[in-house]
Amino acid sequence: MLEIKKINNKKIYSNNKNYRLDKFIQQTLYKKNGYYIKEKPIGKRFDFITSPEISQTFGEIIGAYLIYHWKEKINSKFNLIELGPGNGTLFKDIARSAQIVPSFLEKANITFVEINKQLREFQKKNLNSFKLSKIKWSKSLNFKSNLPSVIYSNEFFDCFPVRQFVMDNDIWFEKYVNFNNKEKKHIFVNKKVINKKLIDCLKIYKKQKIYEVSFSRNKYFEEICTYIKKNRGICILVDYGYYKNIKNFTLQSVFNHKISHIFENIGKQDISSHVNFSELIKIAKEKKLSINEYNTQRNFLIKYGILERIKKLNLNDSHLNKDLLKSEVNRLIDINGMGKLFKCLVVSNL
Ligand SMILES: C[S@@+](CC[C@H](N)C(=O)[O-])C[C@H]1O[C@@H](n2cnc3c(N)ncnc32)[C@H](O)[C@@H]1O
Repeated sequence: MLEIKKINNKKIYSNNKNYRLDKFIQQTLYKKNGYYIKEKPIGKRFDFITSPEISQTFGEIIGAYLIYHWKEKINSKFNLIELGPGNGTLFKDIARSAQIVPSFLEKANITFVEINKQLREFQKKNLNSFKLSKIKWSKSLNFKSNLPSVIYSNEFFDCFPVRQFVMDNDIWFEKYVNFNNKEKKHIFVNKKVINKKLIDCLKIYKKQKIYEVSFSRNKYFEEICTYIKKNRGICILVDYGYYKNIKNFTLQSVFNHKISHIFENIGKQDISSHVNFSELIKIAKEKKLSINEYNTQRNFLIKYGILERIKKLNLNDSHLNKDLLKSEVNRLIDINGMGKLFKCLVVSNL
């Protein structure tokens, strides 16, 4: 384990050993004093704002999509599982979409998979108009039920820690983190990769000379795919990410809406990375699931009716701030921003 020391009033993690990058990230996000254990990260006043927090239409479109598939292909008791519900806003918007198909929530065993205690409390408060007895909270996914499942998430898979590899003179090195006691700061250290299996796995990235991977993310997704394959179901995930190989590492940290360095504000800032969707799609295919959608957020939301939804809201509510609604939706589908950066993947066995 990494030790927590306080030097110059700053928290550092060190016991003078090299720590693999993913282990360092895991510690700063999820262990005692970690960011996702004690900070409340999401919302206009906090570190970052997510799509459901920008506009209700995001959750309404996701909701309509899921409800349609449930009605067509399941239409019986099922597990409705949200991964990393944040403030609970996405669920609220999905529940609003479900008003026209009340059986959707009636037949749902609802689980919120949420690691952050503060957020769990906040979700309970934020959803207090909803029958809370219907919702179960869990820190991790439990695969015990044999019912079909509808699983969804927004900006969940980007939280998983990554490992980074660089090639120099035909030799692969992996990034580790160390604490330089003399300079009292964290530094990156490159260690030569000697594990044969890993070297073999890195061969296909020889041309791009870098490789960033989250084995824990891939494993989590693989477990979901296995579960859906066995019991039927559908999983939709929205996250920032890419399909083709990357030219630069994507690991980033954000503190108070500003990009920072991962060695700053330890335990107080978000650290995330872009999701490698080609790896998730490969896993889903290996599990023989259908790939229903792989699209940019923009294309997905437009395909499933976000522009029509704006028109309807404008017609039905004369007090609505139409310009605000338009600018919020434009932000979600902006081709130079979230619309293109964020991707939507749907896999299923229905
Ligand atoms: C970036 S936030 C997104 C929140 C919300 N989905 C939204 O779009 O506003 C990530 C969420 O996942 C939760 N989380 C992160 N890692 C988790 C893990 N390994 N297990 C369960 N919850 C996790 C966080 O506490 C937070 O609620």
